Amino acid sequence: MTHSETIAPATGQYHSDLPAEELIAQINHLRREKNAVILAHNYQIPPIQDLADFTGDSLGLSVEAAKTDAERIVFCGVHFMAESAKILSPGKQVFLPHLGAGCSLADSITPESLDDWKADYPDHTVVTYVNSTAEVKAESDICCTSANAVSVVRSLDSDKILFTPDRNLGRWVAEQVPEKEVVVYDGACPTHDVLRAASVERTRTDYPEAVIIAHPECREDVVEIAHEVCSTTGMLKAVEKYPEAKSFIIATENGMLHQLRQRFPHQEFVAADGCIGCRLHCPYMKITDLQDVYFSLLYERYEITLDDEVIVGARRALERMMAVPRDN
Ligand code: 13P
Repeated sequence: MTHSETIAPATGQYHSDLPAEELIAQINHLRREKNAVILAHNYQIPPIQDLADFTGDSLGLSVEAAKTDAERIVFCGVHFMAESAKILSPGKQVFLPHLGAGCSLADSITPESLDDWKADYPDHTVVTYVNSTAEVKAESDICCTSANAVSVVRSLDSDKILFTPDRNLGRWVAEQVPEKEVVVYDGACPTHDVLRAASVERTRTDYPEAVIIAHPECREDVVEIAHEVCSTTGMLKAVEKYPEAKSFIIATENGMLHQLRQRFPHQEFVAADGCIGCRLHCPYMKITDLQDVYFSLLYERYEITLDDEVIVGARRALERMMAVPRDN
């Protein structure tokens, strides 16, 4: 089939006029030809979640990236996630289909600001949420995700912890592990941080019996009224605990609703902001589309490269984390 390709001057992204079904057929052909695996985060747009070889949360994706036999990994998520895949599989080519897929939370801490902060707390152990750059991970003692943050902090010999960069997750962990001193950095995910308990309560007026499930990146007032607090994949397991529940209010990025609706078609899932998830929408997670995945495979772009020294340091912190079991 002949088709035309153009390049958007502002972003450098290719555009094709192939229809979606043909793009999917091409993606399927290319991934076989190039021995590539497609990994997608639970927040990606539904067509990408549906065609991925594996869709999951940050921890699940790290595990998949470390164990895949494929030569190439096309990572449909955000930049720090593709970096983690490269760190855990340095011998493979890892591609991020859209360079605009950043993360404001990861950008809120730099190696320099972490160094300054560590200098104020020389006896503390640094626990860094995976939503951080490879350079920041390399300067950390251990990483965590929302699926294992509590166990990671409990697993450490030290009773003095510096938790970076998410203040909401850090506060939540500090509450679960009161026996340790947890000093929390002042970063946040804008998508989660914007949600307030009052909006969730408004949503609840239409679903008074609903089970509320929140991501620990949400603010304290939201977490306080939630029945379950867990990672995105943890939400799938949490729903299984309520077979009689008719509806669930989901306090995380709206991409998660797709996984939940597919897995539990007889229960209802509504976005906690009460506006079909229009506020719980991460522009970075939603920037990648089928065309980007197609061109990523076709032209092998954009390849993630990291300094060997950074890989060694960040890998140490990620591997220490992966030895700790999941909380949820
Ligand atoms: P999960 O690891 O729970 O999927 O969360 C990732 C994330 O980026 C949340 O904003």
